[in-house]
Amino acid sequence: MGEQSVGTAGAGWWRSAVVYQVYPRSFADLNGDGVGDLAGVTSRLAHVAGLGADAVWLTPFQRSPQVDHGYDVSDYRDVDPLFGTLADFESLVARAHRLGLRVIVDLVPNHCSSEHPAFRAALTAGPGSPERERFLFRPGRGAGGELPPNNWPSVFGGPAWTRVTDPDGSPGEWYLHLYAPEQPDWNWRHPATAELMDDALRFWLDRGADGVRIDVAHGLFKAEGLPDHEDPASIEPMRLRGNPLACDRDEVHDVYRRWRRICEEYSPERVLVGEVNLVPERAERYVRPDELHQAFAFAFLAAPWEARAWCEAATGLLEAARRTGSPVTWVVENHDVVRTPTRYGGGPRGAARARAALLAVLGMPGSAYVYQGQELGLPEVDVPVGARQDPAWLRSGVTRDGARVPLPWTRDPGGAHGFSSSSAQPWLPVPTEGWGELSVQAQAGDPASSLELCRAALALRRRLHAEGRIGPDDPTTASVQGEGLLVAERPGLRLVVNLGEHPEPLAEGEVLLASGPLVPAGHLPPDTAAWLSAR
Ligand code: NOJ
Repeated sequence: MGEQSVGTAGAGWWRSAVVYQVYPRSFADLNGDGVGDLAGVTSRLAHVAGLGADAVWLTPFQRSPQVDHGYDVSDYRDVDPLFGTLADFESLVARAHRLGLRVIVDLVPNHCSSEHPAFRAALTAGPGSPERERFLFRPGRGAGGELPPNNWPSVFGGPAWTRVTDPDGSPGEWYLHLYAPEQPDWNWRHPATAELMDDALRFWLDRGADGVRIDVAHGLFKAEGLPDHEDPASIEPMRLRGNPLACDRDEVHDVYRRWRRICEEYSPERVLVGEVNLVPERAERYVRPDELHQAFAFAFLAAPWEARAWCEAATGLLEAARRTGSPVTWVVENHDVVRTPTRYGGGPRGAARARAALLAVLGMPGSAYVYQGQELGLPEVDVPVGARQDPAWLRSGVTRDGARVPLPWTRDPGGAHGFSSSSAQPWLPVPTEGWGELSVQAQAGDPASSLELCRAALALRRRLHAEGRIGPDDPTTASVQGEGLLVAERPGLRLVVNLGEHPEPLAEGEVLLASGPLVPAGHLPPDTAAWLSAR
């Protein structure tokens, strides 16, 4: 594709943007150490531009001991040497902008790394010190303080508290960490936290980032007094929202109002997208006109392969978008969940459903996020137990590693199928069978491939937007027809997805694109989606 530029035009670009999520560790390893890096991302950005995406979101590459693969930040204003340098980030942004791609950076405000200088200082300074005030240190319960200060579980399993050893060697206070012990939660009621995070936000916006994805955006503030949860056993692992005392507090909205104002100081437009993993009625409160631009809509991601579940999810999200004025931000895959071909049952049916799900999210009005490898139809990899790296695996037996395996670029297995410039072992092993056949090289040019389906969908979507036939605010209704057909009608496009067991007749309307063969003729077979011109 020809080079173009991201200019000052295009206010509101995010409303209909397709954002490609890059997990830098696993995208491309240019320095050959087995871990992907920023220079590797830059070297492969043409793939993303060629797909037809509008932007990339990079998961954290800031300085970090990598306990949670970057979601444990020890310096919010620098690039971890594992990924390169600030100059590499600036080159990445420059290249992306030349290719017409915006760049979204991850910001992790709820917690930092236990190696962050402020946390190290808090440990050294001891109980009662101003340094400890910046985190959530509390004395333990029980006669000798041997019990955690409250009964909250960590999202990754085990208690959300760890006891420290005081400078004199005696057992000391406990500190709160909603995730791993190496991720202490900031005290957001301390003014220095807001100052530090405002500064981090500006730091990346000043370096050309077009937006920021906010990690655990519904976190940050906890209930005053950190009271016990009435039924901690009811809190599902890996779901912070099960503990309303630890998230979704009203104070958090003041932060996003301030960040929105900060974004508005910049031109071209800068965007905030929140990881707001709450039920839709609560999540929509984050996308008010003076707060976040977008919040991931996780309802499709959570829905089973069942037409009624999808219809209910779509209807709720579309209604919320009408109320907030922020179009839905659709997502079915990211680095935290099982990849769609596996989640939808595996094998050929799972693969077909993943393709249909991709057309579904791209055919809905609004913005969509596509996770690296989703365009290749990569399945979840069963990473050998001894090679698993996810901190959640060690604490709770849930592993997200299978969605984070390095991307296959070439048929040839060398350099883990083109991921790495050397023969170094990649940080997660790639499968020994079948990985090359899923590579970009193997799929490019094959009209039946997932890659070409994704390219075709993005090109058509772009054209329909350019011609004014579809838009992010299209009034859209979702319904279930027949036994398992999801139909989403918007003025310029009809999306149909067969989540049932039998072929469904296609009503009139020209088929613009389908995720698989339409057999028998005039029908949409199970596990298939199509875009039709509106009636
Ligand atoms: C959500 C991120 O997507 C996930 O990867 C991370 O482990 C948690 N937040 C904690 O930062």
